Amino acid sequence: MTGAQLLKAAHAARENAYAPYSGFKVGAALLAKSGKIYTGCNIENASFTPTVCAERTALFKAVSEGEREFKAIAIVGNTEKCFPCGVCRQALSEFCSAGFKVYLQENGKAVSYTLGELLPGKFDFK
Ligand code: THU
Repeated sequence: MTGAQLLKAAHAARENAYAPYSGFKVGAALLAKSGKIYTGCNIENASFTPTVCAERTALFKAVSEGEREFKAIAIVGNTEKCFPCGVCRQALSEFCSAGFKVYLQENGKAVSYTLGELLPGKFDFK
């Protein structure tokens, strides 16, 4: 599974984004170590606070299906290189190692970061 393939799945997932308030549509595709891909989109709410990001939609779908280990995520938004927000970085860090890859789109190509780069010093009880 390449970053480009995962970004394609994120792009398709973005079609289902429900973003009537911000107009900012996001899609994510999360690759589990099992080989399965879990997609997600952002889902907004009139009360704003209950809004959930695409990345957490994908993560919670996967975890609720029994997945616990992941290889990579791809994220596509309205803008180039749509980075995951801080809350999603922390949520991912519960299940993903520092080497977990985050693919973003730039000039139609996949660029990658590691979760360790994006979230140094994650909060933990350890
Ligand atoms: N959003 C995501 O889906 N992922 C992120 O990492 C950042 C923001 C969504 C939430 C909201 O629906 C919209 O983008 C604008 O913040």
